[in-house]
Amino acid sequence: MPTETDRTPALPRVAEVVYDAETIAARVRELAGEVSAYYDAGELVLLATLKGSFMFLADLVRGITRPHQLEFIVAASYGAGTTSSGHVRLLYDPQAVLEGRHVVLIEDIVDSGATLNRLVRLLQTRDPASLEICTLLHKRIAPQLVVEPRFVGFDAPSDFLVGYGLDFAEHFRHLPFIGRLET
Ligand code: IMP
Ligand code: MG
Repeated sequence: MPTETDRTPALPRVAEVVYDAETIAARVRELAGEVSAYYDAGELVLLATLKGSFMFLADLVRGITRPHQLEFIVAASYGAGTTSSGHVRLLYDPQAVLEGRHVVLIEDIVDSGATLNRLVRLLQTRDPASLEICTLLHKRIAPQLVVEPRFVGFDAPSDFLVGYGLDFAEHFRHLPFIGRLET
C-alpha cells in the first residue's frame, strides 16, 4: 500500500513566517471595517478570486457589517511555477448581474498585476455602479495597474509567499500563517 511519503512529491520548505495568524487576523478585521465604512448606499457584491482568496474572504466577511452578496470568479496564470506566465485564463466567470451594483473584487495578492488587469477590464464591461479592489497582499511591483486597489492588507515583500490561501503548486494553502518559501 502506498504511504503518504510515497505519494508526496518533494516540496520546498517554508523558510520564514512573514505574517503570523494573529497579525493577519488583526489586519483583516481592520480591512473589514474599512470596506464597511466606505460604502453608504447600494447593493454590495463581494466578488472573490478562487482559489487563493478563500481563507481571506471567509475571515473578511465575518467582519463586514454591510449587507452584501458573495460571488466567485476563477482565474489562473501560474501553473505549477512561482512566476506568472503573463497569460491569464478565466476558468469560471460568474453569471450574476453586476450592472448597477457596487462590486468589490477580493484578491489574495497582486504580483505582476496581469490577473488584476485582466479581471478589471472584464468587469468594467459589465457596467457596475462602482468597482473597487480589496487585496490582502500587494507586492507593489506591478508596472501598470488599470485600477489601484483601494483596500490593501499589507505591502508584501517580493518573495514567493504561501499559506492562508496562497499556494505553491496547490500546496500550503491550509497554513494559518503566511510564509516565505526556501529558495
Ligand atoms: P499576478 O497576475 O502576477 O499579479 O498574480 C496574481 C495571482 O498569482 C494571485 O492571485 C495568486 O494566485 C498568484 N500569486 C502571485 N504571487 C504569489 C505568491 O507570492 N505566492 C502565491 N501565489 C502568488
Ligand atoms: Mg495561485
